[in-house]
Formats: sequence, structure tokens, C-alpha cells
Amino acid sequence: MGRGYGFGKVILFGEHFVVHGVSGIVSAIDSATEAEVKKAPGGITIKDERRGSKGYTEEKKAQQIESIERMLKSMGIESKAASFSIWLGGSLPGFSGLGASAASSVAIARAISEEFGLGLSDERINEIAYEAEKAYAGNPSGIDNTAATYGGLLWFKRNMAGGPNIIERLSIEKPVEIVIGSTGIVANTKAMVEGVAERKRKNPQKYDALFKQAEALAFAAKKALQDFDLKKVGELMNENHLLLQKIEVSCKELDFLVDLARAQGAFGAKLTGGGGGGCMVALTPGRELQEKVARAIEKEGFEVLRTKIGVKRL
Ligand code: MEV
Repeated sequence: MGRGYGFGKVILFGEHFVVHGVSGIVSAIDSATEAEVKKAPGGITIKDERRGSKGYTEEKKAQQIESIERMLKSMGIESKAASFSIWLGGSLPGFSGLGASAASSVAIARAISEEFGLGLSDERINEIAYEAEKAYAGNPSGIDNTAATYGGLLWFKRNMAGGPNIIERLSIEKPVEIVIGSTGIVANTKAMVEGVAERKRKNPQKYDALFKQAEALAFAAKKALQDFDLKKVGELMNENHLLLQKIEVSCKELDFLVDLARAQGAFGAKLTGGGGGGCMVALTPGRELQEKVARAIEKEGFEVLRTKIGVKRL
């Protein structure tokens, strides 16, 4: 049997903008998807036992099948002739926005590599998972699969000419608590990404100005993180949320959770990932503040994940 894992992620700065070549910042979280792959007769079968993933799994079924076909093609394996079972599990919940699709693609690619003795490098796993991500995001930037493969806190800039992306490891003084709140709405990342591209095409002046602001924000955030100026990081997250509202990827449930987290003392809060549902992230340094914000969100009937950014071992 082959085994693999892929990290979940939270985008701190730049979702959607990164698709178009703007810089972004992403952190792996201490939850991962695990996969097991075993040669077996009867074609490809999938047993998905990811936490809280029922609605998520059902919504994404067709995209999951397409993603595996894309993955096999990229590995040079004929999908019609392939015959193995896949099991998916691990601690990463199936909330939209946490990179669950990329985490599962990375985990499956690693497990296939082990089961079939392919000995693939992390770089190849990342490339293969990128191909798989196209099934879920249409025109993905590559930020999710990069975080799922390498983990850590990363600076990311897509190479729009198709060459290697810029990926830099960032380090911060010490890990910082965050709260991730899920709207419970399964979002369609592909539709969200297409929507932004469409509006950008129709309204280039407005969008170009917003994209410039997003680039400046990413650089300011990198500095604030490196200076460990968490108040500043929080303010910049709030600004980023405003930009995401302007490109129309937020929704009333996300705005509600963002406002709630801020009212409870979060240093900053924003949607994270594709938007249109999915998750938000709040910067809540210290266990006490983290707990306060998490409980307030739970009290309103939403699920949360208490985790940290900047953890070295991830
Ligand atoms: C999704 O987690 C992030 C998006 O920016 C899409 C992408 O970068 O591929 C919305």
C-alpha cells in the first residue's frame, strides 16, 4: 500500500489576485489530508472518509474524478487501464476554502507514487497536483497545491509566462493563533475564479487599480509579518477583505463572520480561499483571544477550526 499526505492551507493575502500574477501569502495549517492507494481489481474506487465532508464530497464528486484522470495523465498512466483503490481521511475538514482539493490531490499523488514505486520528487508532486487542481479551479494559480506540497508560510507569485512560480519561505518570530470560521456553504471555486476574470475583462480600469492595491498590500504584509507587527498584519487583512468585497467574491455569511470576529477583538479578519461561501480567517494572537473569537462564532451556529500560522514543522 502507498501512503501520502497534503497540508491544508489558509491564504492570508491575495486570493483571486494571485490567479492573475499578483503576489500572495499562504500558510499551511496543522491539519492534513491523508491518502492510501492500493492496487486492486475493478478500476479506480474512492472511499472518502474526510471529516465533515459529506456535502463537500458529494458536491465535488465529478471534479474529483476529473482531477484523478488529470493526475494520472500527468504521471503518464493510462486511466482506463489503471486499477486501484483510494482511501481519503486525515484531520483536514472538508470545508471549502482550506485547500481540501489540493491537499487531497497532493496526498493521492504521493500515495500513487509510493504504491507504484515512481519515486516522485516534491517538485513533480506539486506539478501533478497543479494539473489535478485545474478540475476544481479551472485556471488555478498554483498557490493551493504549493502550500499542500511544501507546507510552511510561503510567499507565492505565479509566473504568467508559464515558467516556474516564485515560491519563498517566510519565517516569523513565533507561531500565531488564528480562527477559521466556516460558513458551511460549499463554494464552487471554478465559478468564482471565472467570475473575477469576466468582471476584470469587462471593467479593466477598476480592476487594474484594485489589483495594484492587492500587490502593494502583499508586500506590506510580508514586511509586517517579518517585523512581527501583528496589529499591522491584522489591519492589512481587513484591507484585503475590502478588496475582495470590491471584486465581488465575498457573501453576507462571510461578511457576518468577519465582522463578528473583529467585534470580539480579532486583530483582523478576511475571507480566505475562493469566497462565495467557504471560510474566513481571523488573526487572534494568544489562546485567550482565539478562544473568545472561536466561541462567538460557534455560538452563532458555525463550525470553527482553531489553529496557528507560522508553525516551523509544517
Ligand atoms: C483558492 O484557494 C484560491 C484562488 O485564488 C484560486 C487559485 O489561486 O487557484 C481563489
